[in-house]
This record gives sequence, structure tokens and C-alpha cells, in this order.
Amino acid sequence: MSMNWGMANRLARIIKSDGRAVMLAVDHGYFLGPTSGLEEPRKTIEPLMPHADSIMLTRGVLRTSVDAKADKPIVLRVSGGTSILKELSNEDITVSIEDCIRLNVSAMALSIFVGSDFEKETLVSLAKLVDEGEKYGIPVLAVTAVGKDMARDVRYLGLSCRIAAELGAHIVKTYYCDNFEELIGSCPIPVIVAGGKKTPEMEALELAYNAVKGGAVGVDMGRNIFQSDSPVGMIKAVRAIVHENVSVKEAFKIYESEKNSKARKAS
Ligand code: R5P
Repeated sequence: MSMNWGMANRLARIIKSDGRAVMLAVDHGYFLGPTSGLEEPRKTIEPLMPHADSIMLTRGVLRTSVDAKADKPIVLRVSGGTSILKELSNEDITVSIEDCIRLNVSAMALSIFVGSDFEKETLVSLAKLVDEGEKYGIPVLAVTAVGKDMARDVRYLGLSCRIAAELGAHIVKTYYCDNFEELIGSCPIPVIVAGGKKTPEMEALELAYNAVKGGAVGVDMGRNIFQSDSPVGMIKAVRAIVHENVSVKEAFKIYESEKNSKARKAS
């Protein structure tokens, strides 16, 4: 993809020189409120930051809970306007491009809800955000959010990812699914995989492994890291899968050893 220097530089801060990325997702509060594990964002974020390549969050949490001296690329959630109590697809753009520039973000993230009530509005918002981002060299991460009745299969996720790419997104975040390679093959922009609901640690590591093996640039993982009994152990294990190509078994050992060493220190 040909792009201006600023855009290329910001993207390179997120997707590292090995073509891989570990993004820490802590933006859940924008519609879920005080999500389990994120009740006190600073406490969750601080120990995990050193192990993430970039961090995805809202401007409220960025301003209140992240040190401005932290040298970590910010992927700012700029869509919202709804809560878990309402129709989730009814989102709009919630941050101006000027504030994104002031906050020195490396990318802007917006959800698209293909097949939902507000499909058109979210897709048009994506296109508008890309227009704004292009003016100032700020990439856009499209998040393929899934409505209540949507299947998380390759047909649906492939449709969403391709539309995101066609509308000009620079990266797309989606879910891992069967026949994932098919999705990758039909999506001309980098794909990053969300972790999804909390699952046993081994399963979350398998997901990360399969995602990168299937062609994703990495993972944008939240709950499977910060809701784990060893968040630092999990992010270290995920990082080893994404950047060092370790097996799931080896990664699980990294998680366990971090967990055990913390338990020893506490006793
Ligand atoms: C949804 O709230 C956000 O886009 C999350 O950043 C995304 O779902 C990734 O987080 P998790 O790994 O918890 O699914």
C-alpha cells in the first residue's frame, strides 16, 4: 500500500519490523462501563504496558490512567455513543481528528456493524474517518463488531473485513474463525485478531497461535490477558507466540512460570 511518510511511520510503530503486532485492548469500558479486570484502569495497564507493542483505549482512560511520558503507540477508540443497555450498532464518531492529533495517537479505531441496524451509518463513519486520517497521516483500524444474531464464520467476518478494506481502513481487527486463511486471502490490508471472551489460558494461546499461523499480523487481546490469573504471564506468552513463533506448549510454560514466580514472591 503506498502511503505518506507519517502514515507509514505510525503504522510501523504498531506493526513491528517483523510484520507482527501485540496490541493490548483495554477499551471495553466505552460501552461496558467498569469491566471486570479493568475497574481501576491504571492498575491493570501499568504492569502490562512494557510487554505490549501498542495499547488500544479511549481518550478518557488515556488521559486519566496512562503516564504522558509512556513511550507506547496509542490506538485510540474513536467510536461509541451507545451502551450495553441499548442497540450496540448505533455508534458514531466520538473524538475529533484535532483531539487525536493533540493526543499524539498512532491510529484511530472505529467499529463497523455489518448486517446490523446501523450498518450504513457505521460504514459511512469509517469512510469519513479514513478521509480525516488521510489528511494528517493517521491510520484507521476498523473493528468488525458482531451484532447479536451474527455468525462469527468466515463468510460473515470475511465480508466485514473486505468492506473495511474497500472503504480505506489501514488495519482491520476481527475474530479468528474456521477457514481463517480464506479471510486473509480476500483481505488486502493487515488483519489483527481480537481475543474475545475469557477462555482457559491454553485456549487463548491456541487462538493467538492459530491466528498468526493463519496470516494475521498478531492479536489485539484484552479479556484473555487482564482477566487471567496472571495477566503479565499471559501477555508475555502471547508476545512469545507473536514475535518468537514459539509453540502453544512453550508459551503456556512462560505463562505458568510467571504465575508461579509471583505466587512464590507473595508467600
Ligand atoms: C471491544 O470492546 C473492543 O474492540 C475490544 O478491544 C476487543 O473486543 C478486543 O478485546 P478482547 O480480546 O477482550 O475481545
